Amino acid sequence: MKVAVTFPIPKAAKVFLGDLFDCRFWESDEPIPADTLAAWLSDVEGVLTTLTCPLEKVVLSGASHLKVISTVSVGVDHIDVDFAQSQNIAIGHTPGVLTDSTADLAVGLMLAVGRRLAEGDALVRDGAWSDGWKPNLLLGTDLSKSTVGLIGMGPIGQAVAKRLAGFGCRVIAWNRSPREVPGVEFTDLNTLLSSADIVSLHTALTNETRGLISRDRLSLMRDQAILINTARGAIVDEAALAEELASGRLRAGLDVYTQEPLPLDSVFHSLPGCVLLPHVGSATERTRQAMFELALRNLVSGLRGEALPAALS
Ligand code: DGY
Repeated sequence: MKVAVTFPIPKAAKVFLGDLFDCRFWESDEPIPADTLAAWLSDVEGVLTTLTCPLEKVVLSGASHLKVISTVSVGVDHIDVDFAQSQNIAIGHTPGVLTDSTADLAVGLMLAVGRRLAEGDALVRDGAWSDGWKPNLLLGTDLSKSTVGLIGMGPIGQAVAKRLAGFGCRVIAWNRSPREVPGVEFTDLNTLLSSADIVSLHTALTNETRGLISRDRLSLMRDQAILINTARGAIVDEAALAEELASGRLRAGLDVYTQEPLPLDSVFHSLPGCVLLPHVGSATERTRQAMFELALRNLVSGLRGEALPAALS
């Protein structure tokens, strides 16, 4: 059977796949060009891919032999899921294995923004820390005992809530479908936005959540509140968020953006009150290894006609 791999993968994974399938590997760090992708997909049964490679209807409609899409990501917003499923193409992704790493990073961003960690680091490195300890140097806000609003209470939202219990936070949450999570108060979205000191996004990007944190909803957030986004950039109206940051009314910790990499001329680079990371929520050695292993198992199982260990439901 033929398999296309649309991004550079570790050598061990190449050897493993090469022993089982007739593989084409995209080796460059540049994204695979659309025409190459279309040509490769036209005669493969399986594709191992990730979120930097959009699998839209226009590409998938030429993939007449394709049986399995296995993505090394939990998010599937880069795939036209409805179309793939209408063609009986199984989709595997990597939920669960990245939950803890992503939750750790979300809490890290809460601390980084509230306690101004990046500013402190820059001050020391730039040689601008000239006066020693000062009573008013880099005063920030506490995560401890703050009210944190979690939008999306799937596994990652719940893992963040567990961590926040240790900080003595009041945790309030909104989820599209009703949930009960011990220690978490569920509320409607607008109440959450207007009551939280920190709002953290943990929902998938879908047609329903695109633009969920709109200009109007951002305006409900309290003065000096912090927005944390480790989910997907397009959940937020980024232009409206940039205005809120520019005025100094809100603060933010962002790991994800509508356009990645963040364009060099993006206004975010120069805005105060925000910490910017390059989409590294799941970026630990252990988690990336686990994501690869799960994605490979999804691919192999699907091509053998077996149930995928982590099929998109
Ligand atoms: C995902 O898996 O969807 C994350 O955004 C990257 O690990």
